[in-house]
Amino acid sequence: MTTQLESLRKHSLVVADTGDIEAVARWKPQDATTNPSLLLASAEDPRYRHLMDRDMDRVFVNFGCEILKHIPGRVSTEVDARLSFDMQKSIEKAQRFIALYEKAGVKRNRVLIKLASTWEGIKAAEKLEREGIHCNMTLLFSFAQAVACADAGVTLISPFVGRIYDWHKQARKVDDIPLEDDPGVASVTRIYTYYKKHGYQTQVMGASFRKTGQILALAGCDLLTIAPDLLEKLAKAEGDVPRRLSPEKAKAQAVDKVNWNEAAFRWEHNQDAMATDKLAEGIRRFDADARKLEKLLISLSAAVPAK
Ligand code: E4P
Repeated sequence: MTTQLESLRKHSLVVADTGDIEAVARWKPQDATTNPSLLLASAEDPRYRHLMDRDMDRVFVNFGCEILKHIPGRVSTEVDARLSFDMQKSIEKAQRFIALYEKAGVKRNRVLIKLASTWEGIKAAEKLEREGIHCNMTLLFSFAQAVACADAGVTLISPFVGRIYDWHKQARKVDDIPLEDDPGVASVTRIYTYYKKHGYQTQVMGASFRKTGQILALAGCDLLTIAPDLLEKLAKAEGDVPRRLSPEKAKAQAVDKVNWNEAAFRWEHNQDAMATDKLAEGIRRFDADARKLEKLLISLSAAVPAK
C-alpha cells in the first residue's frame, strides 16, 4: 500500500516549508522554502547556534547553504519585508543574497529569491529575472497578484491557501470550511488554470496549508510546499491520491486572458478585501519576526566575541 506522500509525489513536486535543517534532511524534498518567521524559529533553536552571525542576511544565507546540502534542488530565501514597497532596495537585497551565496560556492540557479507580491516586489522580480536571479513571489492572495507575476515572467509563485482559509473562517465565524468550499484551494485552482490555459511558464507552488485535505485537493499543482508536521501526516496516511489539477483540464476551461496595467492591478487587488488584509498583515508579521531575529542576533553577538 502506498502512502499519500508517495502518491502525491507522482503528481506534484514536494517542497519542505521549514528552516529546520534536520527536518529537511529527514524528508529529502526536491526544494525547500524558508521565510523570516521560520528562520526566527530555527534561530532560537540551540542546534543551529553555529549558523548565527551579527548580520541577518548572512544568517539567512547560512541556513540556505546548510539546507542545500540535503536537497538536490533550490532553496528560497526571503527579502526583508521592510523593502516590500521599494523596488530598487529589493533588487539590491536580492543581489546581496546572491553574492553571499556565490561567495559560499552556491550557484544562483539553486536559489530562489522570495519577494512579497506587491507591485514593487513584482517589478523588482521582473528586473532580477533578466539578470538570471530567479524569484519566488510570496504573500500572494489575489488573482490580480498572480496575473501581474505571470506577466512579469517570474520563475515561480507561492499562492497561499491557509491564510485565505483563516481569513474566511474568521469572517464567517466558523471553525472549519469544507474542502469543496475552501477559498484557498479555489484560489490556487483558479490561478493554476489561468496559467496553464494561457501557456505561462511561471510555476505555481501552493503554500501555507492548515490540513492535509487542502494539499491533496491540489494534487497536480506544479509544486506544493509543505510544513514538516503535514509531511508527517501524509507519510503516515495510506492511500492513492487522485490528480486534481492538470494542464489538460485547465486548457479545456473557458477562461479569458486579462491585460492589466499598474492601475488595473491596484484596482483589482484592492477589490479583494481578504487579499488586501492578508498582504498587509503578512508584511507586518514577517517584519515583526525579522525584528525579533535582529534582536536575538544582537543579544547573541553580545555574548560571543566578534569573529
Ligand atoms: C511559504 O512560502 C510560506 O511562507 C508559508 O507556506 C506560509 O505559511 P503560513 O501561512 O503557515 O505561515
